Amino acid sequence: MKKFSLCLTICILGILLLAGCGQTQTSGKEKVLERAPQAQYDDAYITVGFVQTGKESDWRDANTNDYFTVFTKEEGYNLIYVDGNSDSDRQVKAVYDLIAQGVDYIIIDPIVEDGWEEALCLAKEKGIPVLIVDRKVSADPSLYKCWIGSDFNGEGRKAINFLEEYLEKSGRENDKLNIVILEGTKGATAAIGRTEGLKSEIEKHPNWKIAAMECANFTQGEGNVVMEEILKKHPKFDVLISENDNMMFGAMNAMDQAGVGYGVDGGVITISFDALREAFVKMDEGKLCASVECNPLIAKYARKAIEDMESGKAVAADIYIPEKVFTYENYADYMDSRKY
Ligand code: AHR
Repeated sequence: MKKFSLCLTICILGILLLAGCGQTQTSGKEKVLERAPQAQYDDAYITVGFVQTGKESDWRDANTNDYFTVFTKEEGYNLIYVDGNSDSDRQVKAVYDLIAQGVDYIIIDPIVEDGWEEALCLAKEKGIPVLIVDRKVSADPSLYKCWIGSDFNGEGRKAINFLEEYLEKSGRENDKLNIVILEGTKGATAAIGRTEGLKSEIEKHPNWKIAAMECANFTQGEGNVVMEEILKKHPKFDVLISENDNMMFGAMNAMDQAGVGYGVDGGVITISFDALREAFVKMDEGKLCASVECNPLIAKYARKAIEDMESGKAVAADIYIPEKVFTYENYADYMDSRKY
């Protein structure tokens, strides 16, 4: 009787394993994940998988909305949007999923440059063209079709060119300056490029010094907290450069709390990047001296590249998008038309 119950238990366990675990097969000790069968997409549309960084800033929201506006069903696209949730491993996994689903194109906005080689190799092996947008990857360019985005190094240099002109106008070009920099996410092209551009121009001024440079990950909340910490160690400095507007807005809050004056009418000279609508409001209030534009409206360039590939035309390896510098002097001409 005992033997019979033991046999019965083993049989039931076996049936449960076979029936309930359709997702996995065991071969020896190794577990193999069985993916869902390749999705059946409607051939009337071009299916594009877009892996976004996350929602770290208002710039990012404008950029995400732009893809939804440009890659529409009316234009012949089936857009699969994946929120990277500020997690680069999640982004890489999303690319593997899109490959398994057999999408027609993959657009990646990488949080950081490193860690893409293997996923890009597989996409190439499966014949799925990849477009890299906004930030770059460190992988070999032969693994993707093109990169489309901003000249981040150039943006950094433009910020310092503005500072030079600003100081000259008030006869302060020979002043000793202590500069504080709020950096974006470590390993992200936007932060790498802007920091290099800023430093290369700052180095030309022996009377200027970077007093502090801290990472605040492109978010407003971290901009606030990191600035509070900086102010404890450096209560006096002359220039604040924030590698995006949102970190600057957070830092402004910290400076307000600490009673530190800033802006066009005196105190700390404030310069940031992105040129959001809110940055124009801050310039209007005299709180922000300049914002170097980072253009989030990239999707139309990505769609054009896909259209070119569809019709067998060559696509440039690097496509830079146009950008301006908005300052306390010219902001009023653009403020009303600023959408994001
Ligand atoms: O990669 C572009 C940068 O990322 C923008 O400056 C920033 O606001 C965004 O989060």
